Amino acid sequence: MTNPDLQDQQRESWGSKAGVILAVAGSAVGLGNFLRFPGTAVNNGGGAFMVPYIISFLVLGIPIVWCEWTMGRLGGRYGQNNGAGILYAIWRKAPAKGIGALTLLVPIVVYMYYVLLEALCLRYSIAYFTGGFDAHIGTAVEGLTRGTSEYNEAVAGASVGYAMEQFALKENGAMYSSSMFWYVITCFIVNFIIIYRGVTRGIETFCKFAMPLLIGCAVIVLVRVLTLDNIGTGLGFMWNPKWELLKNPEVWMRAAGQIFFSLSVGFGLILCYSSYLKPSDDVVLTSLSASSANEFCEVVLGGLIVVPAAFLFLGSSHTPESTFQVGFFTVPAIMHLMPFGGNFFGGMWFGLLFLAAVTSSLSMLQPAIAFLEDGFGLRRPASVTLLAIITAAGASLVMYFSINAQALDFTDFACEFMMIVAGLAQVLIFGWVIGAQRGVAEANRGSDFKLPRFMPVMVKYVTPSFLIIVLVLWCTYNAPDRIRSMSPEFKGIEAALTMQFPDEFDGTDGPEKKIARVREIKAKPASARPEWYTKPNEETKTKIADARLNANIARFSIVGVGLLFIIITAAIDIACRNRIGATIAHAEHTQNLLEA
Ligand code: ALA
Repeated sequence: MTNPDLQDQQRESWGSKAGVILAVAGSAVGLGNFLRFPGTAVNNGGGAFMVPYIISFLVLGIPIVWCEWTMGRLGGRYGQNNGAGILYAIWRKAPAKGIGALTLLVPIVVYMYYVLLEALCLRYSIAYFTGGFDAHIGTAVEGLTRGTSEYNEAVAGASVGYAMEQFALKENGAMYSSSMFWYVITCFIVNFIIIYRGVTRGIETFCKFAMPLLIGCAVIVLVRVLTLDNIGTGLGFMWNPKWELLKNPEVWMRAAGQIFFSLSVGFGLILCYSSYLKPSDDVVLTSLSASSANEFCEVVLGGLIVVPAAFLFLGSSHTPESTFQVGFFTVPAIMHLMPFGGNFFGGMWFGLLFLAAVTSSLSMLQPAIAFLEDGFGLRRPASVTLLAIITAAGASLVMYFSINAQALDFTDFACEFMMIVAGLAQVLIFGWVIGAQRGVAEANRGSDFKLPRFMPVMVKYVTPSFLIIVLVLWCTYNAPDRIRSMSPEFKGIEAALTMQFPDEFDGTDGPEKKIARVREIKAKPASARPEWYTKPNEETKTKIADARLNANIARFSIVGVGLLFIIITAAIDIACRNRIGATIAHAEHTQNLLEA
């Protein structure tokens, strides 16, 4: 039998404390910080949003981060670097395999669309530096005077048009024949080369250079924004608290969701990264440092740049809602409008977003690489090739079905749910399977400072209860709307029919009522349907077919994620019965792993 110490030496581990902090911060700092946060905060109470946000950070974010780091480091001592093996080592029961599947599935699926946004950032950065974006805007603003509201509106419109073209929001498959295809390929190559080089030589080395660089670029853009004339009005718009919104449970759910996405909890990434720590490495302070770096990037850099500048140039009517709208409709316009060097700042901004996206993408790929190697004994070339094929297949579907970013939107929806469930399951395993006291003692081993005394109560009762409330809120407020929006009627049948038969609909009714009316007619037997309904013209027929296709894409995205979950669970089951089980048994045989 191999000496366990020798076995530990052979396994990869982080090279330095600064390296691990930057790698984990790199995993957390991403598009969520710079794009998702500002849009979410301004639409959910501005300054008041910080109340549920900080509470979520303290009650959900930090405790789950500590649980994941502790379990990850423990799993590393069982010879496991993948979430599935780590959770199975801790809880030798069937549900651990299902929860483990979520920790592999969420990052893989998020990667399948995240890489497209990463490619878009690279595309924009180059378009700014080479003047390509200016050339596009040029025709839209011909004859208009810079600084006037007409000029600004024209830029905003042209910026939306540019993003729609790049991301093929109007035509499925169009990205394949545009330069975006090559940007996506470039991102795949960059990500997989770094992953191939391994944890220390690849991820850690890249993050050590990328993180300071991206923070430096963000600070330069921040200084530019804060020195704009009248920026105070933009900051006021972003941060004036709307306290009345705190009565709305959805605001609380959004805050919790933001903390989850931003800190990458529930993704399985932390489990994976922390498993490369040495048994006596600190987890408490290191994880707190990485989380604090993430919060700095999110609240200070993310919160002060985008929305204040957008308000200043474009007014409140362009308040962005989704990550995509913030990032690719609004920001390109405001960078172009920025006086003195808009192209330079635009190029730098999208360059930093690209770096942030790469450091996050790497952490989404590593858990699956670790699983293929731990679970099936694959060597690096084989694991990297297999994962590249799987993720390329998924990403090419998301890329193909680009109308209104259907596939992206619905895979994101499925991941949001799985992330909350995985986060809840992990904190329950920590508090109830390992046991809160024992888990906290394990966290404190080798730590630079000890966890607060209330942590056992927090992880056993408070955090899980809060998460259950979040899950219930998510199921009550978020899921029904999204599920309803998967119907063909919602996707545009109603709009097509209204267009051709305006007299058959009450002009004062909103879309919801019109959708209900179409559904009511559709539910009737064919003979009982009104005559007009059975006679759509060619244009309406095409629109109806498109609406059906879009609804099917949305449904298929969810079903596809479900199928992947089943396949991954089956693979985990096989691996646990064979290689993972054997490695765990070997580790148990040779060392006393969990302190009594
Ligand atoms: N935590 C990563 C981000 O914020 C996923 O983009």
